[in-house]
Amino acid sequence: MTVMNISESPDIRQAFSNFPSGVAAICAVVDGVPKGLAASSFTVGVSLEPPLVSVAVQNSSTTWPFLKRAERIGVSILGTGQEATCRQLASKNPDKFDEISYTSTDGGAIIIPGCSLWLDCSLFAEYPAGDHVVALLEVHSADVHLHESPIIFHNSKFKTLDLVRSN
Ligand SMILES: Cc1cc2nc3c(=O)[nH]c(=O)nc-3n(C[C@H](O)[C@H](O)[C@H](O)COP(=O)(O)O)c2cc1C
Repeated sequence: MTVMNISESPDIRQAFSNFPSGVAAICAVVDGVPKGLAASSFTVGVSLEPPLVSVAVQNSSTTWPFLKRAERIGVSILGTGQEATCRQLASKNPDKFDEISYTSTDGGAIIIPGCSLWLDCSLFAEYPAGDHVVALLEVHSADVHLHESPIIFHNSKFKTLDLVRSN
């Protein structure tokens, strides 16, 4: 085991990257324009009553100020094979959605087809957290796609659940 002293660590991001996660596409149509970002800091089960999930968003995000105004925010847990969609959502390209197929609800929440789980959410609360904000999202409905396997983001690489099992 390698013990890293945080104050001496050259890159705390590298240490954090050893915690495996899924990747959430946090997306909504705002003022008629699709907006979204990819987030591996997404966490389910923050609260069950009311049902709350969380995401930590960099203060430098240009997309979050739009998303936080949305009536409803769609959370699509990206599935295996959606790595390109993830990269596109993580880009600074103002036309991120040009090459992403999606549908949206009347409330503006975006659904990315092929996701393994979709949640219809609204912003519940937002807290400053260093160079990020932690946003709590209230879940209004959930659509589980058991046949789709979620992408795993681990050590800055995309992996599949099968790979994780076999490692
Ligand atoms: C796999 C992956 C995970 C990411 N996770 C987060 C995250 O949890 N929080 C965050 O603010 N940005 C995260 N990003 C970066 C954002 O998706 C994205 O780069 C940024 O929001 C784009 O800039 P914009 O918000 O100005 O459009 C992640 C990117 C990738 C590729």
